[in-house]
Amino acid sequence: MLRHVQMTQGFPNCIGIGVLGYDGVARAHIHGYTRIRDVFGPEAPLPRLVSVCGRSQDKLTKAALRYGFEKYTSDWMDLISDDEVKVIDNCAPNNLHSEVCIEAARHGKHILCEKPLGRNAEESKRMLEAVQKAGVKHMVSFNYRFVPAVMLAKELIDAGKLGKIYHFRARYCDDSLVNPETPFAWRMDKELAGSGVVGDLGSHIIDLARFLVGEFKAVSAMATTFIPERPLREEKGKRGKVTTEDAFTATVEFQNGAIGTLEASGFCPGRKNFNTFEINGSKGTIIFDLERLNELEVYLDDSSEPTVNGFRRVMTTDPSHPFCRYWWPTGHIIGWEHTFIHEIYHFLRCIKDGEDVGPIGATFEDGYKCAVICDALLASAESHQKVDIS
Ligand SMILES: NC(=O)c1ccc[n+]([C@@H]2O[C@H](COP(=O)([O-])OP(=O)(O)OC[C@H]3O[C@@H](n4cnc5c(N)ncnc54)[C@H](O)[C@@H]3O)[C@@H](O)[C@H]2O)c1
Repeated sequence: MLRHVQMTQGFPNCIGIGVLGYDGVARAHIHGYTRIRDVFGPEAPLPRLVSVCGRSQDKLTKAALRYGFEKYTSDWMDLISDDEVKVIDNCAPNNLHSEVCIEAARHGKHILCEKPLGRNAEESKRMLEAVQKAGVKHMVSFNYRFVPAVMLAKELIDAGKLGKIYHFRARYCDDSLVNPETPFAWRMDKELAGSGVVGDLGSHIIDLARFLVGEFKAVSAMATTFIPERPLREEKGKRGKVTTEDAFTATVEFQNGAIGTLEASGFCPGRKNFNTFEINGSKGTIIFDLERLNELEVYLDDSSEPTVNGFRRVMTTDPSHPFCRYWWPTGHIIGWEHTFIHEIYHFLRCIKDGEDVGPIGATFEDGYKCAVICDALLASAESHQKVDIS
């Protein structure tokens, strides 16, 4: 007997999604929405791709057709005022985070916003106040929390397996800026981006530091811009002034007594997405590298077997590892895009079941606290002074 399944309107768990952006990271988000039910099963929330917003009509039409959005618009207010949109997913450049999110909150939309939350702490605070006032769910897309190996690291630390944490050492390096002819982009304009690698790559490792080790107490940093001008894409022969930092290095103190270092740079030839951290505690060490995201290196002090004690490389693909029971047989690895599927599933489930986004997901409060630290790093680099995190 032929039966029809009603897949969208009227489906009890269906949540209307409006996405700002379709290129860049927005692609990973949209991919996430399309995979939720496939991965998490028929009880998972069902995202409905209602509307997509971008700047060029031609590209928008193509994006809507490519992903199956019902509507498209070049005016983000259309997205926000659409009654069928319940979630605004803000994947726009940083200068469009605060205005869009604050307006979306006023319209009662739940919000997933890309990192960094605002261009600075002041902007981020206003965003936090807006979502709190509106009583909507909010999450910042710190997707690296949702790597199974990172979640396993958190489980080990929270269970006390590493003992007292002494060190957090993180680097986020790539070679995206090393060629002086790499064209000028919005990320190099302080007005649009707020900061350079501090907000772009640094915010990720700051969030991981807070997620895994705890709150910051103070920072000391230096930052620099190696290439002060870049060719403009639109005006041949002309160059634009780079007003953001290309690289930073910082030492940090945590409230629990741990100390650490943070570094981010686009000037590291050969490094592609080298987001790595090492955490040392009184009873062990863990090492993570995003370029090998299915693995966690673990050293646990085991004096009963001193001759063979050493680091072990754990493949974090076992059904017992976070999120992995939803995926493939053990050893069948996952990739960067899957972190967004996990993150989006978590957010939609919190909306559907009325659960808290934190402490697993990063809330706007986490985004604000991260922005305070980003501002402190920049202030320290400017003043050559240690800056306390208040
Ligand atoms: N979580 C991550 O791993 C990750 C990775 C990359 C980027 N990001 C963040 O995502 C955001 C976007 O970065 P990106 O690299 O994807 O940028 P991008 O420039 O590649 O894409 C930006 C998108 O925003 C749209 N847009 C820009 N201005 C608009 C306007 N006025 N109206 C409507 N749409 C507009 C563009 O059409 C485009 O689709 C940034 O905040 C960035 O920090 C996060």
